[in-house]
Amino acid sequence: MSKIIIVSNRLPLRVEKKAEGMKFKPSEGGLATGLGSIYKEGDNVWVGWPGAFFSDSTEESNVTLRLKQENMLPVFLTQEEIHNYYEGFSNETLWPTYHYFSQYAVYEPEFWESYKRVNQKFADAVVSIAEKGDIVWVHDYQLLLVPQMIRDKFPDITIGFFQHIPFPSFEVFRLLPWRRELIQGMFGADLIGFHTYDDMRHFLSAVSRVVAKSNSSGIIEVGNRSVLVDSFPMGIDYDKYSGLAISDETGEREKRYRESLGDVRLILSMDRLDYSKGIPQRLAAFEAFLTNYPEYREKISLLLQVVPSRDKVEKYKKLKEEIELLVGRINGKFSRIKWTPIHYFYRSLPINAISAFYGMSDVALVTPMRDGMNLVCKEYIASKAHEGRGVLILSEMAGAAKELSDAILVNPNNQKQMVEALYRALTMPAPEQKKHLDVMNDSIKKYNIHHWVKLFMDRLTFIKEEQKQQATK
Ligand code: F6P
Repeated sequence: MSKIIIVSNRLPLRVEKKAEGMKFKPSEGGLATGLGSIYKEGDNVWVGWPGAFFSDSTEESNVTLRLKQENMLPVFLTQEEIHNYYEGFSNETLWPTYHYFSQYAVYEPEFWESYKRVNQKFADAVVSIAEKGDIVWVHDYQLLLVPQMIRDKFPDITIGFFQHIPFPSFEVFRLLPWRRELIQGMFGADLIGFHTYDDMRHFLSAVSRVVAKSNSSGIIEVGNRSVLVDSFPMGIDYDKYSGLAISDETGEREKRYRESLGDVRLILSMDRLDYSKGIPQRLAAFEAFLTNYPEYREKISLLLQVVPSRDKVEKYKKLKEEIELLVGRINGKFSRIKWTPIHYFYRSLPINAISAFYGMSDVALVTPMRDGMNLVCKEYIASKAHEGRGVLILSEMAGAAKELSDAILVNPNNQKQMVEALYRALTMPAPEQKKHLDVMNDSIKKYNIHHWVKLFMDRLTFIKEEQKQQATK
């Protein structure tokens, strides 16, 4: 019996070391939910980093044993590896380059060496449990070299790779000194997936420029293997968010928050701390709105949630300071005794609080400078399915904008346009809000996370069959 092996930098669970012992906290993420139906079955396994450091091999063996019960295999990383491979190459080289912030990218050979070594560690973990006939699905930019490293040991195994962040245009990608090695690492897969057609197009253009391989309709010949490149826009766990919105706990929280906030209309901003999310630009647009439309002062507030992320990376530390300075300045300038313009939360919130924030917000302002997909906007829409009220302002630089053309689309560099979008959103008649929400809901309900997983797996089976037929010709 063949099995499926999922590989990602993080496991869908975080191990926390507490004085009273280890805590195993499951992830709320969409990917964990979508792939839950796969990795929890039979002998299937999820391979990844458990998110903590352990002092000795006894501790590591205990964690390994405990995770085995959850169908997970941990890859243990040292603090130095996390510094060089994760914070360094993944998040100071690849992340800024792939999000068009190439001025932030560092090209540090030591980071690259660590990235190679850690990718080999992940590949070795897969190889240690893989058997001929298994299917391996590798996820994201932290593990670009893993597909080829596995292929070196198992020439016929089925490998899928999905990149969750954008793939930049060739003129940006070419800046990377290791561009050829990265593409060759990905070529180990039989199927390479991106969120959008544009990402796929950029990748194919980089392939033809860097390794001089042509393609016809997304199929690249690599040695005697055909590699398929395709786009798969990721969806959310639709039923979870639409269901949470009408749950008693969310309702109770909404009531409690409402009583404290009084009668103001709410605009929601919810992201991980990241410069790609455009948080300072959004705050500046909110400030400009309050300046240009003074009649809205004391009538609206911004709910600003920033989820801590990568806080050891310098650019993220600076961004946090910048956001806090801006929030302080805007609140200092406009606050009244009975009104706070921005309610700022720098922390993760429980899922029911998130659901309550979605439910209470008249407008969601989702304006990343660049985003592979963005799932917050989809979660907001699903949370509004029953109520039929709410307006989404969405950056055209988010992958989701390709699907959600019923949102008010904006260029996050165009402050005037963002201000006018806020005005339009706050004055949009209820029937128009419902009309747009209904269209978007139909689409995200259908193209949900389970649909995404199935589509990817079907395409993987398809290309493997094609390869077999070619081999018999
Ligand atoms: O969007 C890419 C991604 O890697 C997601 O898979 C993940 O949820 C998020 O960025 C945060 O990543 P991390 O905290 O692992 O750096």
